[in-house]
Amino acid sequence: MDIRYNERSRTFTITAGDSSYVIGIADKEGFIGHVYYGAAIAEEPMYLLRIDEPPFVPTKNNRDRGSFMDTFPCEFPGNGLGDYRDGAVEVIDAGGHRAIKLTYEGHNIIDGKPALAGLPATFETDGARAKTLEIYAKDEALNVKAVLRYSVFEDSDAIIRSTELINESATPVLITKIMSASLDMDSEDFEFLSLHGSWARERQIDIRPIGYGKTSVGSVKGESSHQEHPFMALIEKGSTQEKGRVYGFSFVYSGNFLAQAEKTQFDSVRVMMGINPQGFKWELKPGDSFQSPEVVMVYSDCGLGKMSRTYHDLYRGHLIRSPYKDKERPILINNWEATYFDFNTEKLLDIAREAKKSGIEMLVMDDGWFGRRNDDNSSLGDWNVNEEKLPGGLKYLVDEVNKIGLKFGIWMEPEMISPDSDLYRAHPDWAIQIPGREGVRSRNQYVLDLTRKEVLEHTWNSIKTVLSSANIEYLKWDMNRQITDIGSAELGRDNQGELSHRYMLAVYKLQERLVKEFPNLLLENCSGGGARFDAGMLYYSPQIWCSDDTDAIERLGIQEGTAIVYPLSSMGAHVSDCPNHTVGRVTPFETRGNVALAGTFGYELDITKIPQEDRDMIPFQTATYHKYNKLVRSGDYYRVASFRENHYYDCFGVVSKDKSEALFTFVQVMGRPNYHSRVIRIPGLLPDVKYVVEGVSEEPEEWLGSTLEKAGLRIGNLWGDYKSLLIHISKADD
Ligand code: DGJ
Repeated sequence: MDIRYNERSRTFTITAGDSSYVIGIADKEGFIGHVYYGAAIAEEPMYLLRIDEPPFVPTKNNRDRGSFMDTFPCEFPGNGLGDYRDGAVEVIDAGGHRAIKLTYEGHNIIDGKPALAGLPATFETDGARAKTLEIYAKDEALNVKAVLRYSVFEDSDAIIRSTELINESATPVLITKIMSASLDMDSEDFEFLSLHGSWARERQIDIRPIGYGKTSVGSVKGESSHQEHPFMALIEKGSTQEKGRVYGFSFVYSGNFLAQAEKTQFDSVRVMMGINPQGFKWELKPGDSFQSPEVVMVYSDCGLGKMSRTYHDLYRGHLIRSPYKDKERPILINNWEATYFDFNTEKLLDIAREAKKSGIEMLVMDDGWFGRRNDDNSSLGDWNVNEEKLPGGLKYLVDEVNKIGLKFGIWMEPEMISPDSDLYRAHPDWAIQIPGREGVRSRNQYVLDLTRKEVLEHTWNSIKTVLSSANIEYLKWDMNRQITDIGSAELGRDNQGELSHRYMLAVYKLQERLVKEFPNLLLENCSGGGARFDAGMLYYSPQIWCSDDTDAIERLGIQEGTAIVYPLSSMGAHVSDCPNHTVGRVTPFETRGNVALAGTFGYELDITKIPQEDRDMIPFQTATYHKYNKLVRSGDYYRVASFRENHYYDCFGVVSKDKSEALFTFVQVMGRPNYHSRVIRIPGLLPDVKYVVEGVSEEPEEWLGSTLEKAGLRIGNLWGDYKSLLIHISKADD
């Protein structure tokens, strides 16, 4: 880790592990140029800024300033002054003009990494310090200043960027766009990797060429969303898990976002990521500043696998804060797919009693315990217990569950309000809405305007009252609709464009209070499945519900896409009953367990009703979880084969940091005629060490790490669809 300024060449070199990032100041005007990002280099190749090529810099040839502006590889491009590529920042000044150009004013290199007020962000730890470069850039005509921040950690290849805009003028400025990071590179036939999806089909890997013009993904749904994801990677064509140059960009934010690559007439590509400018407008009063969320950039010249492992380590070590992050999570059983809204104390206690026998450790009561909520049409906002279902209230139920020997967790959807609720009847104006329009309902609910102080305080008190009323050790925080009708009763005409970002800041504020006031609570974020599985939420909860699709085969793709960026320790994964409630597929109970073991692990079924042979397998599965969870939680992730690509089988695993142990999961998705066996190559082990391999043949076998990596293991036909194996590999005794 290093950040250097070379006075002679006027360059900054940021070194993060195996990668270098070089920024140069060009010309007397102080244009801030993007020189280089890639594998570590020892010099500053300023020639990459091409300032000696026609049309030259403006001080030598002002006649062609426009051409210069449109070709210069810029570090943080402005708007309206000759650069026709998309700008990273756009404003409207007091006169209604939209031009902005930020040039170098100064810089500072500091130890540590400043926190971002009100926003989730990566942080340094005692074991791994950080350094930060702040570049100050100014538009003299507007008297507006930007602080471009770049941070690196001792133990990571990642570079973290964010932008702050400060109004030093005497009049307000409206920000209409502010990206967290932007950079210009030569286009080298990169492809664009993104994670697209839908409800129950989140984070599917999509790879497409970057053609001329703009290639982008984004959300304007008020959350990171099921459909597109705040992550993109530019990957060299033909990149694999082990090979290829790969640039990853992950946004530490849970609201509207834009991730874009723009290929130009000159075969350069401008990459940018930040809050989606669509619908965004922020009034920056004199003296005020606006802080953008941060982007985590990771470069790998050894393919996607190394990039993923860098993100996993960074997010485990420098983003997730929960006391649970390095601990086994209690194995939970959730009653959603077991009962939906149809449950009562007796039913829950029956489930708890049966669960206890099989080694399950916590009962989670899902939606339907409050108000008059017997379906999803009412009561959100009325967080008082439905005593018809739960006589004696939460306290009685939780005490009984605790007596059985299980912990207790609960579901809430604090951000919402049902039109059919006492809360709405008392405060109809508390919903986000546009006066004079009937609000768009989704799942028959509206979104609370948490940007209003009294609404936020009321919501906080509801959460606090519920959590304090009994021994509740886990909270599933759900959010089941996207935001429409952007309108807040408290914002004026020029400020409605602030609502979506203010809303996210309010959600972060609530969750920050939650983790501070209930430090031992295990928080799991959720949004209609996995619509808020993002780096922003990981700052508050160590695990996030991955998807409402619990089918083991669908989960292979969902968990593969999720693991491109996020550690296995964060992926909410449960074993459910069959036929699967989302796709109707019937898979072996064993495979459902093996796939869920790659996440936080739990159950989502009526344990009192499932077939006896399935129930009999649970004690073995819960014991397997305890045996391997530390490895799964903290090891290095490797993707060996992808069902998405080969259409037959899937294989992934983890190798412990000291390489003494590994666990690989193989799923034969499709049985095939004339299919005999498959060779899978096991990466990540020490070549000269003998390992014991269990789970492939009847008896354990011993092989060198190099044999396992180069020759691989032969997996025989498992006879049938959806069969799976857990392959355990451990260092043989010397
Ligand atoms: C969506 C979640 O993803 C489900 O697990 C469940 O909690 C429902 N909401 C409850 O309404």
